[in-house]
Amino acid sequence: QKILTVVGTRPNIIKITRFTHESQKYLSIEHSLLHTGQHYSQNMSDVFFSELQLKQPDFVLKINASTVVSQLVNIMQGIEQTVQSYKPDLMIVVGDVNSTLAAALVANKMNIRLAHLESGLRSFDRSMPEEINRIITDSITDIFFVTEQSGVENLTNENKLPEQIFLVGNTMIDTLVAYDEHIKASPILHNLQLKPASYALMTMHRPGNVDTKEGLLKIIEVIDYLTQRIRLVFPIHPRTFNKIKEFDLQNKLSANKNLILMDPAGYLDFQNLILHSLFVITDSGGIQEETTFRQIPCITLRPNTERPCTVSIGSNTLLNFDLDKIKATVEQIFSNTYKTCAIPPLWDGKATERIFEVLSKL
Ligand code: UD1
Ligand code: UDP
Repeated sequence: QKILTVVGTRPNIIKITRFTHESQKYLSIEHSLLHTGQHYSQNMSDVFFSELQLKQPDFVLKINASTVVSQLVNIMQGIEQTVQSYKPDLMIVVGDVNSTLAAALVANKMNIRLAHLESGLRSFDRSMPEEINRIITDSITDIFFVTEQSGVENLTNENKLPEQIFLVGNTMIDTLVAYDEHIKASPILHNLQLKPASYALMTMHRPGNVDTKEGLLKIIEVIDYLTQRIRLVFPIHPRTFNKIKEFDLQNKLSANKNLILMDPAGYLDFQNLILHSLFVITDSGGIQEETTFRQIPCITLRPNTERPCTVSIGSNTLLNFDLDKIKATVEQIFSNTYKTCAIPPLWDGKATERIFEVLSKL
């Protein structure tokens, strides 16, 4: 059977790094990869293919989109053409980004069986674009690959059948496990002249946090507090960078001597930064999971999470922008009284293997 996997963004790419390797174990499977071009900058896309030595995508779309709707339309038209010529038996979509939704709709309209990697996650917050993408995608998915127990429960509550649902674990962790040696060999601490556990690591890119001036000012308030206590490394997502420029807030960051601002980091450098940080502060989805696997304290500045096991089992704490609570949690980390945590079941580096076992029996 011909399988076409669709990726479009940084986290999508990081979730499929073992697909080629695992698919090659099955003579009955032909696997191809399509990149929608949603993320296009070198440091948001190409860097992962080169440093993780991934096979280049078989199909790459060139989209020229200035609005979300034109982004979706462009991606759908590009995938439609590829599906017409390649004729896959099954499509796999990843995560919850616009490329996921666009590809899922094309699969549905063109009668292609659809599998969704990382399905069933719910923040129950419909103001997040990703939540809508997740709900619509899952409503037309045939095969659900799930990372954590909450996903199984959510899908069951949405009347999906047990035989469609596969709790396989987390393919993002597969990448961490597979590249562990390379991650540990990254020279990033040396390059930034940092010692292990002497700094915190920040990322921010959720529209709800960075798209308004008020949101950015709240982030700057948190940065000002944190950098009084510790050095802070902040690789800036292009969305956030553009918004900081738009609201003319650069000078509020550039004067801060304890703040290390940088472009988006490559995967190996970023993982090395996580591994050696005292704690991470973020609004990312995937980083909540990676810190849980590493058992590094993570403060998530959001009102909710679609990945609740990172809080109930893992090292994650949800705090939103309550500065007093952030201060109290940071003090717990400094005084070694932060909560104890564990790694969720099946986050063992073998999720992709389980996925292809399932696919080989379809
Ligand atoms: C997207 C996903 C989000 C995910 C994030 C991962 C949607 C709705 N959102 O958000 O769920 O957490 O990716 O990083 O799909 N840009 C560049 N270069 C790039 C990519 C983006 O400069 O390679 C800039 C562009 O100005 C673009 C803006 O960032 O307009 C936003 O990019 P977009 O892909 O629409 O959303 P993200 O914020 O990256
Ligand atoms: N990441 C990276 N470099 C960075 C920031 C993040 O390689 O500068 C990785 C991170 O380790 C994780 C993925 O990108 O594997 C998460 O992507 P992002 O936070 O953009 O998206 P989300 O998970 O929120 O959808």
